[in-house]
Amino acid sequence: MNELDAIVDSARVAFSQAATPAALENAKARFLGKTGSITELMKGMAALSVDEKKSRGAAINLAKQAIESALNERRQALADAELQQQLQAEALDVTLPGRVRGQGSLHPVSLTMERLEAIFGSMGFEVAQGPEIEADWYNFTALNTPEDHPARSMHDTFYVEGGSTKTPNLLRTHTSPVQVRHALQHVQSYKTLTGSDDLTGMPEIRVIAPGRTYRVDSDATHSPMFHQCEGLWLGENISFKDLKYLFTEFCRTFFESDDLVLRFRPSFFPFTEPSAEIDIQFQQGPLAGRWLEVAGSGQVHPNVVRNMGLDPEQYIGFAFGMGLDRFTMLRYGVNDLRLFFDGDLRFLSQFR
Ligand code: DAH
Repeated sequence: MNELDAIVDSARVAFSQAATPAALENAKARFLGKTGSITELMKGMAALSVDEKKSRGAAINLAKQAIESALNERRQALADAELQQQLQAEALDVTLPGRVRGQGSLHPVSLTMERLEAIFGSMGFEVAQGPEIEADWYNFTALNTPEDHPARSMHDTFYVEGGSTKTPNLLRTHTSPVQVRHALQHVQSYKTLTGSDDLTGMPEIRVIAPGRTYRVDSDATHSPMFHQCEGLWLGENISFKDLKYLFTEFCRTFFESDDLVLRFRPSFFPFTEPSAEIDIQFQQGPLAGRWLEVAGSGQVHPNVVRNMGLDPEQYIGFAFGMGLDRFTMLRYGVNDLRLFFDGDLRFLSQFR
């Protein structure tokens, strides 16, 4: 093997051993650099004759080209390898199952509340809230419920320690106390606004108050914590026919059933006179023909109107209190109330 072939060979070996682009450039310098073997051979030609220069020069050039092409080949190979490595490092396994973020959903009773607020909202009702730990006065006394009324007995009411008549001492047994709280506030705001005690021109009170309520009770249709929605419409000329119209409209919209029939059945509540229980009857579906009790209602008792800071000779209206769990069960065809409060996601996630 002549000297040039040996140089080309050793260049090929050196290039193939260079594992990185930097190592390859170092190896290149040994052959093609300023003091590289090929360069040195070129320098050596100065002493040769013209003819010798021609043939020697051509031979050196061939060797140089062979080294350059070996170099380029190796450069490409290293670049390919690097790309390959990068692709592998960044590879995505598209067959892996995705990281799913569980989607939450509103509780069916919350859906009922939202629906109710939207429907009554469209009929000009505002939404009020009251405390769940309530004072005896708001829960009973202000609502014309005398001291010896059975609803006050320990059997029905969860009492909490401490408290006096006007400080919190029980878990509210119904949403009715919000009637009095809201009316008092409504009257007070109007007085503050006008800077006078004269209520002439005060807007009517139209409010609903959905929320949690508590009683010592637990079976398939009763839960110690349950939901009600109170309604109050009070003004100077509000009558039972307004209640009938409003509640019928509400129920037909809520259940999306135009032929739903309502029945107002005489009843008794201390805070209304006269009082009525409201039953509904579906004309279609699995419950068709059955009367289902959904709310208590009545014309607000004069004593309650007085406790609202209003003159019962001037202000009149009606109130109602409905069971939201009942409405939710009827709307979705659920037959055991406890399902709502067991926290079983298989049940709850059906109400998206
Ligand atoms: N508060 C009553 C209850 O819990 C329901 C009720 C009846 C509310 C008549 C009212 C009403 O506002 O007028 O059973």
